Amino acid sequence: MSEKILVTGGAGYIGSHTTLLLLEAGYEVVVVDNLSNSSLESLRRVEQITGQSVAFYKVDLRDQSQLANVFEAHEFSGVIHFAGLKAVGESSEIPLDYYDHNIYSTINLLKTMQQFNCQRIVFSSSATVYGDPASVPITEDFPTSATNPYGRTKLFIEEIMRDVAVSDEGWNIILLRYFNPIGAHKSGLIGEDPQGIPNNLMPFISQVAVGKRNKLSIFGDDYATPDGTGVRDYIHVVDLSDAHVKAIQHIEQLGGVSTFNLGTGNGYSVLEMVKAFEKGSEKPVAYEIVGRRPGDIAECWADASLAREKLGWKASFGLQEMVEDTWRWQSNNPEGYSE
Ligand code: NAD
Ligand code: WQD
Repeated sequence: MSEKILVTGGAGYIGSHTTLLLLEAGYEVVVVDNLSNSSLESLRRVEQITGQSVAFYKVDLRDQSQLANVFEAHEFSGVIHFAGLKAVGESSEIPLDYYDHNIYSTINLLKTMQQFNCQRIVFSSSATVYGDPASVPITEDFPTSATNPYGRTKLFIEEIMRDVAVSDEGWNIILLRYFNPIGAHKSGLIGEDPQGIPNNLMPFISQVAVGKRNKLSIFGDDYATPDGTGVRDYIHVVDLSDAHVKAIQHIEQLGGVSTFNLGTGNGYSVLEMVKAFEKGSEKPVAYEIVGRRPGDIAECWADASLAREKLGWKASFGLQEMVEDTWRWQSNNPEGYSE
């Protein structure tokens, strides 16, 4: 019998891609999601692509009794925990919601897992835990800090998980620190579907290219980078998802808590991203340079050699494929899943 994995937040951007790859790798998948930032259509399309079914529960992770019902109904060999709120700016406006949805939810989840004797969890952390790094590339032993409530939830959850692992050596935990996920599945059927005005660069650029927005505002061209715009490590969401499958496969053998950066090790500037997108989409991307966005850093990219060594994982998609796959999704689905 195949192993069954619980994916929290599995209807979302990264969760839906990971669900797809888990199914393709032979796992059964159960998704819980409150659909606050996603649509069930993403999972219907995953089913369409794979020809397999996904059990779905519309559950808010803050509701421990509903979560327990899911664990009553299924025996999970592991959990991949994506669910949470993720908008950096919004987190300063409504910090209590971020602590509630991210930290309280995670505590509920860990308690429920303990209760049902499921002690393997892979968690979505973020490169944001490195704050403003002193140098690049960033290795996992760099000092951590947070400059906003969202980042603090990731830091706190990492610490909570480390405490849990110390309290009981039966736990196997993997903390994955994502750099900047972009791209979409090759089918063009699933992708990132932000609600309202996108906060992140790639969805904004693709909405300009498809004609939904007039122009991109580039937040500063006076950083200490080659062209003055911010440099980031963009990673294809399918590569990222593949790392989760490998994490589940290695979690027992690694034991305790492990922390891995997930990036390509390459940094690209905002202007390089605009140019790559224009080439990939054959559409112009109008932009203007505006002031810096508060809290942004100049540059950030990963040393991901630890994930290569311990998980046998390495990013395989290059920049041009990332933008072409983003464009296929965006141009086929200009209104996202809501069409
Ligand atoms: P997403 O918003 O598409 O997915 C998150 C999902 O969680 C959504 O489907 C949402 O409906 C669900 N959710 C939120 N609160 C919930 C709750 N209380 N109960 C149940 N479901 C809930 O985001 P994503 O980009 O797929 O990100 C997934 C995870 O990866 C998040 O934890 C995010 O913080 C983390 N992460 C994302 C990025 C990024 O740039 N996308 C970078 C680093 C880390
Ligand atoms: C990338 C670059 C911007 C939008 C954020 C979170 C991080 C992680 C990933 C969750 C920067 C510039 C952007 C725009 C622009 N998420 N930019 N105009 O800020 O690296 O990381 O998402 O964990 O925690 O902080 O990503 O895509 O917002 O920005 O010029 O309209 O693009 O200044 O240089 P960021 P981003």
